[in-house]
Amino acid sequence: MSAPSIETIVSLAKRRGFVYPSSEIYGGLGSAWDYGPLGVELANNVRQAWWRWMVYERDDIEGLDSSIILNRLVWKYSGHEQTFTDPLVDCRECNNRFRADKLHEAYRQWRNAQLRREDPDTRDEIFLTHWEGFRKNLIECPNCGKKNWTEVRPFNLMFKTHVGATAEDDPDALVYLRPETAQGIFINFNNILNTSRRKLPFGVAQIGKSFRNEVTPGNFIFRTREFEQMEMEYFVRPGEDEQIHQEWIDACNQWFVNIGISPDNLRLYEQPKAELAHYAKRTVDIHYRFFPEREEEERQWDELMGIANRTDFDLRTHSKKPEEDGKRLNPDSTEDLSYFDEQTKQRFYPYVIEPAAGVNRTVLALLMDAYTEKINDKGETRVILKLHHSMAPIKVAVLPLAKNKPEIVGMARAIKRSLQPTVRAVYDDTGGIGKLYARQDEIGTPFCVTVDHQSLEDEAVTVRDRDTWEQERVKVSDLPTYIRERLSS
Ligand code: GAP
Repeated sequence: MSAPSIETIVSLAKRRGFVYPSSEIYGGLGSAWDYGPLGVELANNVRQAWWRWMVYERDDIEGLDSSIILNRLVWKYSGHEQTFTDPLVDCRECNNRFRADKLHEAYRQWRNAQLRREDPDTRDEIFLTHWEGFRKNLIECPNCGKKNWTEVRPFNLMFKTHVGATAEDDPDALVYLRPETAQGIFINFNNILNTSRRKLPFGVAQIGKSFRNEVTPGNFIFRTREFEQMEMEYFVRPGEDEQIHQEWIDACNQWFVNIGISPDNLRLYEQPKAELAHYAKRTVDIHYRFFPEREEEERQWDELMGIANRTDFDLRTHSKKPEEDGKRLNPDSTEDLSYFDEQTKQRFYPYVIEPAAGVNRTVLALLMDAYTEKINDKGETRVILKLHHSMAPIKVAVLPLAKNKPEIVGMARAIKRSLQPTVRAVYDDTGGIGKLYARQDEIGTPFCVTVDHQSLEDEAVTVRDRDTWEQERVKVSDLPTYIRERLSS
C-alpha cells in the first residue's frame, strides 16, 4: 500500500520534520517549501545515489557544477527567450488566471469521453486544437463556472534579475535564473572535452537548483518555482542516438526501482510529436502515480523525469561555426563546439541524450511509495515509512529502556558513537519505548537498538526491525557488522 494521496504526505512531512511550508511566520510564499532535518537527509540520499550511479559506477561520465546565472546570450541561443513559455488565459468574470493548455486538455479529454459515450465509434473532436475551446467560450472557468475568456497569450517562465549596480531597466544588465541545468553543460562542452580528453560516447552530469516562474505551482513539492534537477547530457555519434536513448530510458526506469519505488507505480510515457520541446527528436517521460486518489486512471500519473533525444540542437546553436551554406546561426559565440572523431576522421556535432530528473519529485515519490499503515496489538493504526534502506534519513536509533539509569544511558550513547562513523545513527530517550518505536517507524528508520537492564550483564542489545517488528538479541561487539550487513541486504 502506498500513500492514498499527496495530502497524507504533506501532514506527515510537516509533523515529522521532512518538509515545512517556507516563510510560514510571515504567512508563507505560495508553493515554496523548506527541507527540515529529515528532508535534507532524504534529499541528500537521493542526490548521492544518483551521483554514485551516474558518475562513480561508470567510466564514461564526468561531473560539473556550473553557475545559476549565465550570460543572457545562452538563453537567447538555446531558444528559451523565444519559446520557454506557458500559454496563459484570464477569466473576464472572476479575473483568475490559468494555464490555457491544462484547462484545454482537461476539457478535450472530457468532451471526447462524452462523445464516445454517445457514439462508441466516434472519432475524437479535432476542432479543439489551438485554443478554440477558449475562443468559442466552450470551456468553463474552474473558479466561477462562467465561460468568458481573454485571448490566450504566451508567458515566459524565466525569472529575470539584473547584475551589478545598474538601473533596473538597463537591458545590458538583464539576466535570468537558469530554468534548467543543462545549458551550463553545453556551454562547457569544449572545456570538459579538453581537460578530460574524453572520446564519444561520454556524458556530463550536474545536480543543482533551477527556477521557473510557474503559473500554477502546487501539489506540495511536485511543482514549485525553485526546484532541483539531476541532469546528465550524454554525447553520442549521430546514428547511434536512437539505440543509446532507449538504453537510458530502460536504465533510468530501473534506477527508480533500485531506490525502492514500486514498478506498479511507474510507467513510461511517450511524448506525442505535438508535445515535444523545440529541440527534441523523441522524449519518453517516466511517470509516477502521484495522484492515486483520482478516479480516472489516466489522471493519476505525472512526470517524475524525462529522457530526451536533443539531437545536435544545443551544440550547434551555441557554436560560432558557419553552417554548410556559410551562414552563422550564432554570431556571438567564440567557440566551435563540433567534434573531430578520430575513428571516422569526420567532424560533426554530437547528438545528446538527456536523462533529466527532479530531486524534489523523487523525494515525493519515495515518501508516497514508502507510506504504509499497520495495526498494532492494541488495535491502533501506526504509520510505517518503508523506505529503501539506502534512502532512510536515519539508519539506526539507539534507545535506552531506562533513561534514569546512568549505566544504561552511558552504554546506549557509546553504542551510538560506535555506529556513527559508518551509518547515520541517533540516540533518543525522549519517551517510553512504544512511543519511540512508533516515531522511528514513522520516519523510516530501519533498525531500533534497545539497551535494557539485561544488556549490562550480557553485553547484548535488542535489535527491532521496522518492517516486521521482529526483535533479535545481538552481541554489542557484533553490532556494527550486523547492522552493516542488514542494511545492505
Ligand atoms: N533539461 C530538460 C528539462 O529541464 P524538464 O522535463 O523540464 O526537462 C526535468 O525537467 C525534471 O525536472 C522534471 O521531470 C521534473 O522532475 C523536474 N521539474 C521540472 N519542473 C519542475 C517544477 N516546477 N517543480 C519541481 N520539479 C520540476
